[in-house]
Amino acid sequence: MKVGKVLISQEQIQSRVKELASRISLDYREKDLLMVCILKGAFMFLGDLLKHLSIPLKIDFMATSSYGRRTKTTGKVRITKELEVDAHGRHVLVVEDIVDTGHTLKFILDYLASKEPASLKVCALLDKKERREVPINIDYVGFTIPNVFVVGYGLDYAERYRNLPYVASLVEED
Ligand code: IMP
Repeated sequence: MKVGKVLISQEQIQSRVKELASRISLDYREKDLLMVCILKGAFMFLGDLLKHLSIPLKIDFMATSSYGRRTKTTGKVRITKELEVDAHGRHVLVVEDIVDTGHTLKFILDYLASKEPASLKVCALLDKKERREVPINIDYVGFTIPNVFVVGYGLDYAERYRNLPYVASLVEED
C-alpha cells in the first residue's frame, strides 16, 4: 500500500483546528476542562488544538485496541491505557482522530461516563458518517469524509504514515 490522493491539506487542517479551538475556548471558558486524547491517532490533533487554547485545562491520554482486522473494527474494544487524571466532576472533552463505525467511541464514552464527569463531549478530526453502526453525537467535527481508508496527521496503516502533515487516501502499490 502507498499514499494516494491528498484529501485534506495541511492548510485546511490548520485553519479548521484554529476554528475548533476558538469554539472550545469559548464553550469551556469558566469550566474545569479535561481533554482526553485517544492514543495513538489523536496525538497530533491534540497538540495542534492545544497551541490555540489559552483557557486553563488538563490533558490526559487513554488507549484502546479492538480485536479483528486492522481496517475493520469488530465492535469488541478493550482499554490498553487507563485514564490517570480523575474525571469525576470535570468537564471532559474526548479528542479522537476518526469516528468510523462508532464502536470505539461508544465504548470510551461509556467508560468515561462511569467516572461521573460534570459533562462529556467529543471532538473528532474526521467523521466517516456513512459507516456508522452505533449512534454517536460528535460535538466538534473537523471534516466529514467519504468511506475511504485514510492515513496521515496521526492516522496510520500498520503504524506507518502518522507523521504526514495532511490526510491522504491509501492505494494499492502497482
Ligand atoms: P470505529 O470503532 O469503527 O469507529 O473505529 C475507530 C478507530 O478505527 C479509529 O480511532 C482509528 O484508530 C481506526 N480507523 C477507522 N478508520 C480509519 C482510517 O480510515 N484510517 C486509519 N484508522 C482508521
